[in-house]
Amino acid sequence: MPSATSHPSSRRTTVFAPRLQALMDEHLGKDLVRLEPDTIGIAGAELSDRILSARRATETERPTFKPLHGRSISKVEASSVMRTIGKDVRSALEQPRPVPEWTDLSGPWPITGHRFLSDMVLRDDPRRLRVLMSRTLEIDPKLTWTTIVAGAALPRRPVPGPHLTHLANLFAEADGYHDRRYAMGIYRRAAAPVCFTVSTLVANALWLGSPFGEDVSNRNILYEAMRLLPPSWNLLRNRSPEYPAIDGRIGHGDDILMLPLLTHRDPALWEAPDEFRPERWDDLDPDNTPGYMPFGHVSERCWGRHMVMPLAELLLDHIRRTELVVAPGQRQAHVPLVGLLGVKAVHIGHRSKVRHV
Ligand code: HEM
Repeated sequence: MPSATSHPSSRRTTVFAPRLQALMDEHLGKDLVRLEPDTIGIAGAELSDRILSARRATETERPTFKPLHGRSISKVEASSVMRTIGKDVRSALEQPRPVPEWTDLSGPWPITGHRFLSDMVLRDDPRRLRVLMSRTLEIDPKLTWTTIVAGAALPRRPVPGPHLTHLANLFAEADGYHDRRYAMGIYRRAAAPVCFTVSTLVANALWLGSPFGEDVSNRNILYEAMRLLPPSWNLLRNRSPEYPAIDGRIGHGDDILMLPLLTHRDPALWEAPDEFRPERWDDLDPDNTPGYMPFGHVSERCWGRHMVMPLAELLLDHIRRTELVVAPGQRQAHVPLVGLLGVKAVHIGHRSKVRHV
């Protein structure tokens, strides 16, 4: 394997949005910082642990199952939806060849991965549902709402059955306009993150470390990518009486933003914190490494992680096997200030063909 300095990734610069860069420049290594008059940022591993153990996330703090169209989503319903999308992901993974050998994953990422995953997991679902995977809808929640309202009102309805995913069957079996609208909202909430987050995670990994050494496992590559570019770079906890009791610097009116982006680069916790070193995970347990929380806190870890990891590994595996790499001409990638942290566009092509972007 080439040395760290001669590795192509050492010639690449990750350009963070100014506010993210300022966060790192000004606050790296601190355990607690005041971000706004009413917002505290927490980056210390021990303090993060104490805050996140203090109470469970409320329904408005939960990223996936916030209330939908003004209606709360109970834990029971949330777990049933997760089981449903879990079945769809499993059946995609259990195909004899989930990624056929001839699949070409070259092109700009994450969008190329996003499109591939929507085809792989959502198969032949009707267009009015598949359109809910569009990344354009992220621009404005009103767009999502309009798309859902229009789709739920369309007169013809899909016939339920095995030709649809389990998630689409929830829509096909819904009675009446309101239930159809709700089922479409659930489809967007549960299926879109599978495509968005997995393709973003893989794009981040490629940007940070491609081409990878042959002996490095996909899993370790992903753990290390989530350390340096945690897709969930902040976790919100609204003001709550437990928090001032934990640390006197937190006021009763302060909301809390946990900042894995900073914790994951804390020089007190990590050797060479800014370097992409997947091999560090050979000796670390990602579920039990202080300050490492890409999937949240041990008390309530991401429910989707068991889908995310195999899907991301599958894509990485194919990319490595088909000798796709980051175009050597690409020297910069931008990381915008959005909820899902990731590089905006990474150009991926065949090792023998890519030269310049
Ligand atoms: C790279 C991919 C992903 C990352 C890094 C990630 C990260 C996280 C984190 C950090 C939390 C804890 C949030 C908190 O405590 O405030 C969380 C919770 C959760 N995640 Fe994920 N997630 C990913 C993908 C997914 C996917 C694909 C799904 C569903 C299809 C999902 C469903 C959930 C659910 C249901 C919770 C529990 C809280 C809630 O209702 O939102 N996640 N995730």
